[in-house]
Amino acid sequence: MSVTLTWIGHATWLIDTGGGVLLIDPFLDDCPTASLKAKDVECDAILVTHAHADHVADAAAIATRLKVPVLANFEIANWLGKHDVKTAQPMNYGGRLAVPGGTAKMEIAHHSSSFADGAYGGNPGGWLLDVGGKRIYIAGDTSVFLDMERIGRPDRAGRRLDVAILPIGDIFTMGPDDSLEALAMLKPKAVLPSHYNTWPPIAQDAAAWAGSVTAAGLATPHVLEPGESVTLE
Ligand code: NI
Ligand code: MN
Repeated sequence: MSVTLTWIGHATWLIDTGGGVLLIDPFLDDCPTASLKAKDVECDAILVTHAHADHVADAAAIATRLKVPVLANFEIANWLGKHDVKTAQPMNYGGRLAVPGGTAKMEIAHHSSSFADGAYGGNPGGWLLDVGGKRIYIAGDTSVFLDMERIGRPDRAGRRLDVAILPIGDIFTMGPDDSLEALAMLKPKAVLPSHYNTWPPIAQDAAAWAGSVTAAGLATPHVLEPGESVTLE
């Protein structure tokens, strides 16, 4: 089984699990680097990490067009309901639900989660996916935190993380240096950088970051351009 991950730009990803396509944190039409417009997205489920506009902006429009489930925290699910989404799936930390190709568990994140108008957006989260035979951790917007040691533990079948998607933009999330500390705890086979180069304040030298990851022997880094994919065999 193989799983293909495509960086659309910013923190938006498409993950083809072999059993369906998951869309993570849709921020497309107002994203300066997005390789796709909201009207052109095809997916089978949407997963949202938190309420900030650079993660939920296009969720309601895509969910109402495609009528696909949107997994999100309770407060975001309620908000989606008020925006005509009839397929929102409210969850909270530690909860797990089936998604096309496997399962998704909501994990903690250390961040904030308000909507663009300031309304309360519940707690921010990350996702631990078991899809297409791969274990994938999506940190969302977060600082590094000690529970990453727990998240990185092998599952009961002894399988470690295949890939971690980590923010490296700094300022609003962990930056490149702290991402190395995160990797030391998560111990994934591969790592994909996210949440950088969207705007000048979060510009990063991803090639230099990848060099540091490799030099430290932490994981195999895959630096993508928006629209590019990596397939895990
Ligand atoms: Ni955020
Ligand atoms: Mn963000």
